[in-house]
Amino acid sequence: MKVLIACEQSGIVREAFKKVGIEAWSCDILPSEIYSSKHYQGDVLDILDDRWDMMIAHPPCTHLAVSGARWFKDKVKEQKEAIDFFMKLVNAPIPKICVENPISIMSTKYRKPDQIIQPWMFGHGETKATCLWLKGLPKLNPTNIVDGRDNNVHKGCGFGWNTIECKKARSKTFQGIADAMVDQWGSLEIREDNGGVGQWESTPPREGDVGGSNPPTVKERENSGSSLCNEVKK
Ligand SMILES: C[S@@+](CC[C@H](N)C(=O)[O-])C[C@H]1O[C@@H](n2cnc3c(N)ncnc32)[C@H](O)[C@@H]1O
Repeated sequence: MKVLIACEQSGIVREAFKKVGIEAWSCDILPSEIYSSKHYQGDVLDILDDRWDMMIAHPPCTHLAVSGARWFKDKVKEQKEAIDFFMKLVNAPIPKICVENPISIMSTKYRKPDQIIQPWMFGHGETKATCLWLKGLPKLNPTNIVDGRDNNVHKGCGFGWNTIECKKARSKTFQGIADAMVDQWGSLEIREDNGGVGQWESTPPREGDVGGSNPPTVKERENSGSSLCNEVKK
C-alpha cells in the first residue's frame, strides 16, 4: 500500500503511517519539517497520477474558509484557483481519498462533507471543526473523547498571526487524528485476487472514483526517473 499525504509539510500523517510500516509520501511546496526521503517538495498536481492507493489531502483553506468570508469579495481570482485546486485533489485518479478543510465554501461549491470531526474526539481538548470529504473510505470513528473545548486556533501563536511559522503551527494535523487515520484506514486490505492489482475491500468507491491500479514500484520509479525519487535537501 502506498499513501500520498498531499499538502503536508509537518510530516505528522506521513510519519504516523511509517510507524506501522506503511509506505507513505508527503508532498508540499515547502520542505518537510521532519526530514524524510519520502517527501516530494513541489506541486502535488504533478504526482497525482503516480498510482497511489490512498491520498489524504490538506489543501490550503485561506481563500475558502468561511471564517475569512469578509475578504472574499477582494480575492475572487485567488478563490477560484483555490476551488480548482481542491477539485483536482478530490477528483484525483486514486481509489481512496480524504480531503480535509475547515468549514468552507466547498460545502456548497462541491458538496457537504461526509463528516465533521473535532480534535476533542481524538484525545486533544480543543475545538477546530474539520470537514472530511471521503471517497472509498469509511468515516473516521472518534478514538478518545476528552473534556477540553479550548479554541486555540484563534489565539495565535505568540509570534505574529500572519507569519509563516504561525500559519504552519495553526495548520498542523493533530496527532490523535493522524493516528486514527492510520489505525482505521491503514488496516484496510488490498485484495490480492486480481494479480496484485489493488482493489480495496471496504466501502465501494462512489460513482466517478477510479480504482484498481497499483502505485509504481521503486524500480518503475527509478526507470522512469520519476520526480518522487528526489530527496528534499535539509
Ligand atoms: C492548510 S496547510 C496544511 C498543513 C498540514 N496539515 C501539515 O500538517 O503540514 C496547506 C499546505 O499546502 C501547501 N501547498 C499549497 N499549494 C500546494 C501545492 N500546489 N502542492 C503542494 N502543497 C501545496 C502549503 O505549503 C501548506 O503547507
